[in-house]
Amino acid sequence: MGMLRGFGVDIGGSGIKGGLVDLEAGALDGERLRIDTPQPSTPDSVADVVAKIVEKFDWKGPIGVTLPCVVKRGVAHTAANVDHGWIGTDAAGLFAERLGRAPEDILVLNDADAAGIAEMRFGSGVDRDGLVVLLTFGTGIGSALFLDGKLVPNTEFGHLEVDGHDAEKRAAASVKEDKGLTWAEWAPRVSRYVSVLENLIWPDLVIAGGGVSKKAEKWLPLLDVRTEVVAAALKNDAGIVGAAVAAARQSAH
Ligand code: BGC
Repeated sequence: MGMLRGFGVDIGGSGIKGGLVDLEAGALDGERLRIDTPQPSTPDSVADVVAKIVEKFDWKGPIGVTLPCVVKRGVAHTAANVDHGWIGTDAAGLFAERLGRAPEDILVLNDADAAGIAEMRFGSGVDRDGLVVLLTFGTGIGSALFLDGKLVPNTEFGHLEVDGHDAEKRAAASVKEDKGLTWAEWAPRVSRYVSVLENLIWPDLVIAGGGVSKKAEKWLPLLDVRTEVVAAALKNDAGIVGAAVAAARQSAH
């Protein structure tokens, strides 16, 4: 029997990455392809790049695509860190048309939700029940909430108000970068943010994801919060893997 495969595309503010996924191992099957996100990141220009990536692979099956947006039934509803033209766009319909696929072959979901699906199935959330929240620290802050392993989609905890500010404007990894903060300077911002969140939802586990999860040993030990915080295991590929898993699940139904 051949290996179970899927395909995922992860659309971010700076790069669009895609590749074949081994759905049993929860890992990329071969190389991934990355192309810079076009600026402005309008739906049409992004769809062109997605098509370019998918065409490089010999893949006819279902495709999962992430967006840094609230996505309900394939339609994007927010656009905090991408072109505002996404708001109200039928993203699933757009990608299906551009890729020449049937609508049911395309699944579009929030980027953090996709990363969370991958972490719960293959990474740091395996066998963790109760309330688990994955937070992705990148350009913004993404969130994915799971109750006993089941996703509650589109939570948008990155936009909690913290001390009168949009949380991601204070504690995203991009803020560390832009302000040239050290880990010791950035970590209290993350602690303050996680404290506000934990007072509202009392999670059993926080999984810290995003690019900075690769350097988890530099900042997780500096956090001063009530909840257990662990680093994401899948690092940069979580979005691609989770998108492929979600698309395969949809097409199986
Ligand atoms: C968006 C979320 C997204 C997160 C990470 C936030 O600004 O509102 O939808 O998951 O950034 O990209």
